[in-house]
Amino acid sequence: MGFYFNSHTLASFFLLLAFPAFTYGWGIVGHQIICQITQDRLSESAAAAVKELLPAYAKNDLSTLCSWADTIKFRYHWSSELHYIDTPDDLCTYNYNRDCKDEDGVKGRCVSGAITNYTNQLLTYGSSVDESQYNLTEALLFLSHLMGDIHQPLHVGFTSDRGGNTIPVRWFRRKSELHKVWDKDIIETTEDRFYDDVVEEFVDALKQNITGEWSDQVVKWEKCSNNKVACPDVYASESIQTACNWAYKDVENNTVLEDDYFLSRLPIVNLRLAEGGVRLAGTLNRIFK
Ligand code: ADE
Ligand code: ZN
Ligand code: ZN
Repeated sequence: MGFYFNSHTLASFFLLLAFPAFTYGWGIVGHQIICQITQDRLSESAAAAVKELLPAYAKNDLSTLCSWADTIKFRYHWSSELHYIDTPDDLCTYNYNRDCKDEDGVKGRCVSGAITNYTNQLLTYGSSVDESQYNLTEALLFLSHLMGDIHQPLHVGFTSDRGGNTIPVRWFRRKSELHKVWDKDIIETTEDRFYDDVVEEFVDALKQNITGEWSDQVVKWEKCSNNKVACPDVYASESIQTACNWAYKDVENNTVLEDDYFLSRLPIVNLRLAEGGVRLAGTLNRIFK
């Protein structure tokens, strides 16, 4: 397919230049890792539903489309506020009724509300009620992406710094922002330093921990109390606590982040990627039971 410049793509291009930090959730690789962990853990019926809902060009690989929701933010403008939650500065708590709203105050328009919404849409799969009312392919892609985002600690961050987007830092020699450090930089440095830039090796290492060292906890990660199908508020609360205890901790404007920060935070990123993957699978398995 050719690539055409019209006024819209040109405008998007300059917007990208102007606001580089506001564009992505976990980077493409973070979402890819989460969805690769997920797809291995699907039940037979969930795997069949996912296969049916994915477009043919995805070749039954969910991970190829787990960043789709980020790429359509400019087309589906209404969706850009569904990727995060802004909580009150310095409180380090999340409360659905207080915090899950968009910038106009519309309730439920946050990453937790969106996960519940797309879960409910997907629950109509296979019922005669409504295959036409919703686009269940889009619902699957939103759910798969947003389950990742809600596990990025700074996607449940403070309001005034937009989840660390407005905190400039240095990542080793380069300029970055705290939010981007958690979306991408820690993951990229890990790939580069420990896995020869081969993402599959990173994923394999996480999968080994999931079936090995973490296997006891994994049973708890997967569960969702009170017979609920999705538990996004639990994950959002964990994220803001993790943001306070690890992401924001010891960071100010222009702090230089190097090995001390990288090596102490990497286990947290590993854990959140694994939890995101395991919980997306658990949720899809409950949806498509
Ligand atoms: N925009 C405003 N707050 C944000 C957050 N926590 N994460 C990503 N984008 C945001
Ligand atoms: Zn996102
Ligand atoms: Zn992000």
